[in-house]
Amino acid sequence: MPIPKTVEVTEVGPRDGLQAEPQFVATKNKIALINDLIGAGLPRIEFSSFVSPRAVPQLVDVVEVFEGIDRSANTVLAALVPNAKGAVRAVDTGVDEIVVFLSASESHNKKNVNRSVDESLTGFEEVANIAGQAGIPIHGAIATAFGCPFEGDVPIQRLGHIGRRYQELGFTGISLGDTTGMATPPLVSQAVRFFQDNLPDFPIGLHFHNTRGLGLVNVLAGLEEGVDQFDASFGGIGGCPFAPKATGNICTEDLVYLLHEMGIETGIDLRCLMRIATEVEALVGRDLPGQIMKTGPRLDLHSMGEVATAQG
Ligand code: COA
Ligand code: ZN
Repeated sequence: MPIPKTVEVTEVGPRDGLQAEPQFVATKNKIALINDLIGAGLPRIEFSSFVSPRAVPQLVDVVEVFEGIDRSANTVLAALVPNAKGAVRAVDTGVDEIVVFLSASESHNKKNVNRSVDESLTGFEEVANIAGQAGIPIHGAIATAFGCPFEGDVPIQRLGHIGRRYQELGFTGISLGDTTGMATPPLVSQAVRFFQDNLPDFPIGLHFHNTRGLGLVNVLAGLEEGVDQFDASFGGIGGCPFAPKATGNICTEDLVYLLHEMGIETGIDLRCLMRIATEVEALVGRDLPGQIMKTGPRLDLHSMGEVATAQG
């Protein structure tokens, strides 16, 4: 498989990144970050979730956030939706795209949305009807696709079963989510090939968390299989509040740096991203895991006077 020449990066920072933040981030600050992301050239942003505000209080302002954004024809604004109630709210708000989600493993699906996998899938039929009538496309996400923190390995046939249902429901594509960083390059290659063989023509995106330090290595494995859609979060912030040891997504600036160094186009301004990540760091009041935001790209050089000379 040739490595793609262009990649679509989805910024999930406003959703996956902020959802577990204990301190409420003011609505106007969320809007400003999203406007800056649009200015930086992000083609797609997961801007928030239509979930229960009791489950995820940080995203209670989803409607106000959407209404405050300076819309651009160049950026798709997608929102996470778990059920029909969320779909109705998303349609009423007028989002560009709905991302439905479930977990491949029963135990994490129960933790995250209080449903069995079959119950989630049945609910998505109603979501598809609601969104279909409004002409809003649906993207289907599968969490814990590379392993579940409660159950371990997830049989690939289970991913195939969910993927087939997503395709039957008319979704535009699928993304495989690595909720707690259990993916490894061989698992990524195996899953992507499985989908390419069994569900050809169903676009695949990859959603990695850097919990075990393999995030960008897994991206490389995906690129080598021809995948050209990746999710990432500003500064590498994030994580599912309903999974143990969940940590941040792969970092958007680090991902974009890697892609650009490989000659892959994203349409995104890396310097803008670095500024945004610094703003996020200031907002949440702690260091974020992103690396390029701290060091700059490799040819950001230094004066020799900046460091001491070793004295033997
Ligand atoms: N948006 C807002 N409120 C919702 C909702 C939605 N999409 N779905 C359900 N609710 C409300 C109901 O109206 C009800 O409110 P009430 O008690 O005031 O009448 C309440 O939530 C319970 O509804 P129920 O359908 O029984 O939900 P539940 O308790 O089984 O919870 C979810 C199911 C999906 C709503 C909840 O688990 C959830 O929001 N999970 C999201 C988790 C998440 O975002 N994880 C991070 C992403 S990986
Ligand atoms: Zn995630």
